[in-house]
Formats: sequence, C-alpha cells, structure tokens
Amino acid sequence: MTIAPVMSLTCPLDGAALSRTESGWRCPQGHSFDVSRQGHVNLLPVQNKRSRDPGDSRAMIAARRRFLEAGHYQGVAEAVSRCVLSHGSAHQSLAVLDAGCGEGYYLRALADVASTRRLSLLGLDISKWAVQAAAGRDRRMQWVVGSNAALPVPDQSLDVVLCMFGFPTPAEFARVLKPGGLLLEVEAGPDHLIELREIIYPTLKPPREARQAPAPGFAFEDGVETVRYERSLECAEEIADLLMMTPHLYRASAEGRAKAEALTRLDITVDVQLRSSRRL
Ligand SMILES: C[S@@+](CC[C@H](N)C(=O)[O-])C[C@H]1O[C@@H](n2cnc3c(N)ncnc32)[C@H](O)[C@@H]1O
Ligand SMILES: [Zn+2]
Repeated sequence: MTIAPVMSLTCPLDGAALSRTESGWRCPQGHSFDVSRQGHVNLLPVQNKRSRDPGDSRAMIAARRRFLEAGHYQGVAEAVSRCVLSHGSAHQSLAVLDAGCGEGYYLRALADVASTRRLSLLGLDISKWAVQAAAGRDRRMQWVVGSNAALPVPDQSLDVVLCMFGFPTPAEFARVLKPGGLLLEVEAGPDHLIELREIIYPTLKPPREARQAPAPGFAFEDGVETVRYERSLECAEEIADLLMMTPHLYRASAEGRAKAEALTRLDITVDVQLRSSRRL
C-alpha cells in the first residue's frame, strides 16, 4: 500500500510510545485511548483544553467542507501537494503531519495525487468536529484530536509538517521533524479575499509584515511561493459559507456582516503564500 496512517503516536500524559490494541491505543503506564466508530483517537487531555469545545465549531467545519468541496481552493491544494511530493527523492517514503488539519481536505488531496510515492499521513486538530468529519470521510490517514502546543508524536519522527491557515508552534514542529525535514506554512497573502474584506470592514488593515527570520532550528528554503487566482461565488449560500469558515465572521461589524449577507454573487481573489523551512 502506498498510503497508510502514521502509526507512531505518544501518550499525551507522559510522552511514552503508544501501542495499538484491539480497541484503541495504550501506553506502558496503562493510559488508554479509545478509537471512535469513525476511526479517530482523542489525545487531548482534559487538562490541556482551554475550553469545553475547543477549536472550530461544527457549523464552521461544515461550512468549510462545502466551500472546499466546491473547488475554490483546489489551486492551493495542488501547490501544497506538489511542494510536499518534491521533498526528498521519489523512492523515499514520507511521514506527513497536517497540524490543524480542519476537515482533512488537504491530506485527502495529497493522498489522491501521491501516485507511487509511499506516504504515511497524520491529521491533527483541536476541534473534535473537524477530526470526526475527516475520519468519517477517509481511512487512509490517522486522525487525532490534539493540540499543536503538545503534539502526541515522537521526536524526529516526521518528514513533513504542514501548517495551513493555522496555529504555528515552531518549537513543537522542530521537535517532531527529522533533521532535513520540511515545514510548509501556508498563509493568506495581502490580497486574499480582498473583495470580501472590503465589504465587511470599514477600513482595511495593512498587510502583516512577512517574517524576516526563520524560527530557531530552521532555515528558510529559497523564496515564498505565491498562489494567486480568481474565483466566482455564484450564490448567497457560498458567500455565507466563506464568511462562516473564516475569522471574518467574528471580526466584522454587524453592518459589515449584513452587507455580506445581502450579496448573491461575489468574485474573490485567492492569494496565498507557501513558505518552506528546513529543519536543521
Ligand atoms: C482556519 S482553520 C484551517 C483548517 C485547515 N488547515 C484548512 O486550511 O482547511 C484553523 C484550524 O485550526 C484548529 N486549531 C485551533 N487551535 C489549534 C491548536 N492549538 N492545535 C491544533 N489545531 C488547532 C481549528 O480547530 C481549525 O480547524
Ligand atoms: Zn501514558
């Protein structure tokens, strides 16, 4: 099999290696973690939760799934898959973590184009709704509820870490990546969804300064890749899904939200930056 779930996980309570049992995962100290009907495992200890239901809500996950399934970010998925698959030599197998994987769109897209490349895949998100949705959809990956702040993954066990529109924790990414491993961070560029932002905010914030220096333990790979294209949203439901899946819904004023909700068509610019760093 060329695509398989990552099978090296660690106990979130003491960091020891977990072994797969009939019903779940277990560490030598006897901590055990059940595998759900959908096939995912919850490795987020209650004491590490900042709220009862952390991460994206069920409604946000459902909106993001519909929006992504419509193909609006397919160009981003293709660029990410290309970048991951160009890491290392073609016969080398790759262990890949999507840290903050949402409902799993980008790992599914990667698995679909892997061809003969051997991949072991791990999707992790702090939202149980995200992980449930991902696991219910595709069993080629290991899906875990967990936090980027304390990844339940052994030191130096991964070839690639993806962090897409998420919560980067560079020290944890450095710990889990093998020397030479790839950290691929994907973030909004200055014009990303500018048409929506112009409608919902009275004034636009200046774009965030790009990070000048790599995180400790990393070196930047040459250049930042920009993926930029336009799409049309043809109905109010698609616009509502876009608003729901981004932080803009919560940041916009009531007036801005009302303006967006009245739209029945919107052309959007997708402007996304891929930055690769190598673990030293
Ligand atoms: C903007 S969404 C992006 C999801 C996915 N990467 C994508 O691009 O479709 C951010 C995701 O990060 C998750 N998240 C928030 N805090 C997290 C943490 N500490 N560890 C892991 N995931 C987290 C949220 O639940 C949400 O699914
Ligand atoms: Zn344990």
